[in-house]
Amino acid sequence: MELSGTALSCMPAALLLLHLGLTSSMVHKNEFQTGLAGGEVTLNCPDILPESQLPRDSVVRWKYSDTLLWRMENNQRYWRKPNFISGRSDIKTQYKLSVRDLKLSDAGIYTCEYGTHKVHTSLHIVNLKISLDGHFLQNEVPELILTQNSSSPLPNLSITLFDSNNNRVTPEIQNKNLQEYIVNLKKLKTMDSGTWVCQIHSDSPLINQNISFAVKVLGFQNPDLERKYATVDSTVILSWHLNSQKIKWKKDFTGQLNWKQQEGAESHELLDFIVTAEGQLHETKKSNNLLFEIPESKPESTIEVKLPKVHFNHSGQYQCQLEYERRHAQRKIELVVMKVSANPAGPLSRGASVTLTCQVSGPLAPDAYLSWERVDGTKMDSKSSKQHEVKLEVNISTAGLWSCHLIEDSDKKISFHYHVEEASVWINNVIIGASIGGSLLAFALGCLCIISGVNWQRRRQRAKRMAQARQHLLENKTCQCQHRLRK
Ligand SMILES: *[C@@H]1O[C@H](CO)[C@@H](O)[C@H](O)[C@H]1NC(C)=O
Ligand SMILES: *[C@@H]1O[C@H](CO)[C@@H](O)[C@H](O)[C@H]1NC(C)=O
Ligand SMILES: *[C@@H]1O[C@H](CO)[C@@H](O)[C@H](O)[C@H]1NC(C)=O
Ligand SMILES: *[C@@H]1O[C@H](CO)[C@@H](O)[C@H](O)[C@H]1NC(C)=O
Ligand SMILES: *[C@@H]1O[C@H](CO)[C@@H](O)[C@H](O)[C@H]1NC(C)=O
Repeated sequence: MELSGTALSCMPAALLLLHLGLTSSMVHKNEFQTGLAGGEVTLNCPDILPESQLPRDSVVRWKYSDTLLWRMENNQRYWRKPNFISGRSDIKTQYKLSVRDLKLSDAGIYTCEYGTHKVHTSLHIVNLKISLDGHFLQNEVPELILTQNSSSPLPNLSITLFDSNNNRVTPEIQNKNLQEYIVNLKKLKTMDSGTWVCQIHSDSPLINQNISFAVKVLGFQNPDLERKYATVDSTVILSWHLNSQKIKWKKDFTGQLNWKQQEGAESHELLDFIVTAEGQLHETKKSNNLLFEIPESKPESTIEVKLPKVHFNHSGQYQCQLEYERRHAQRKIELVVMKVSANPAGPLSRGASVTLTCQVSGPLAPDAYLSWERVDGTKMDSKSSKQHEVKLEVNISTAGLWSCHLIEDSDKKISFHYHVEEASVWINNVIIGASIGGSLLAFALGCLCIISGVNWQRRRQRAKRMAQARQHLLENKTCQCQHRLRK
């Protein structure tokens, strides 16, 4: 009993040996290949003889699982059975099977059979889907969905991403199962436009695939935060540069330009525009509230407005917004206007003082402040505001050229020069405390004045003109010299 038991247990091993002996005359091969959904693969029928050397009447078959796809006989008589890849497959040289426009469901075992040969290829399909078809607006967050399908157990894929500048991106990847991976990226910037690469890897089965995909990010090339500074009554041009041409965005989109004086204030539409798929920009002026113009010549793909004589009230937020498929992106330019006034207005008389007020439309950057100073004056003649203050007053009793600066990051962003005239200098002979400096030049000029023998009236007129000529310091000295000479 024990013996027969042993004999029985040997039986399967003997059968197995027999089986192996038989198959040694047949050739079985297993191959592995990866294909991308939407792409094309070519599956080899390895080791097959060239067509011309195949024995007569030999038949070559391509099968998918048990489904016959193609049957080929010598003398190039091919036929294909209607099946799921009909119209998407072809036979190439050396009986290679090519399949294009791959689908996830094309995954499986493909077999090339001829004579006693059977070559199995396991086709693994990977599909990468980019949200919004790869067309994004600035600040949108793309999502990638990577799906794989195979007839063999699915590998746990490792995914690496490279952006359009070939920098490695470390995204957040969720995979609830091995079939689907969701990759969440960060907010896009316009400079992220270009070709990205998704690298997938697995050790077993060995998969190394680079999948490149296009990302287009429509938006503005302006910086995130833009402040434009202007003195009242000057000409200001505000520009928004669209990147549609640069990234070859071949779809229509629209947009508008709005202005509001401050956060929470009523918004006014200034113009709207449309950019056609061909890249043409058409603008329509919407409002006459504000004295603005659309400059005639400007760079391509640029939204631009010109404020010819900017009013203090026209400061605030100018926001350009674009719209594509009901999604929006915007950039705003904060226009900061500076104005200066004097109280009392008019020339400064002896012993009197005047209050100069410098004001900027807010809000200012956190480290910004205002500063008054007298041109060519001393430290004593300058005064700075506290940070955040949008108004700075100085009481002055010295005529001359005064400047108000808006200082941000130790940079003078904008300066307003204000000339304080002296009142009737020739009568009052004023300017106490002006620096005489004992200048020989001043003395000589004063003397010249007298020698030239100009009459009193004429000299008064001339002095007035000179005062207006902002050469106040020189004038002061001349006049002081004159005064001394007359004494
Ligand atoms: C995966 O491929 C099989 C055939 O191999 C198919 O039946 C199945 O539908 C495919 N899965 C997906 C998600 O397409
Ligand atoms: C795949 O591998 C990663 C990292 O090794 C792991 O965190 C994750 O849970 C795995 N996924 C599955 C479905 O096994
Ligand atoms: C994928 O891309 C990387 C980097 O560009 C390259 O080193 C690698 O050889 C590529 N792999 C394949 C399979 O093309
Ligand atoms: C500017 O604003 C002030 C106060 O808000 C208003 O009284 C004045 O009419 C405005 N001027 C213009 C030109 O809009
Ligand atoms: C300037 O002078 C006016 C009037 O004399 C006074 O009310 C005001 O407080 C002064 N301002 C400063 C900043 O000294």
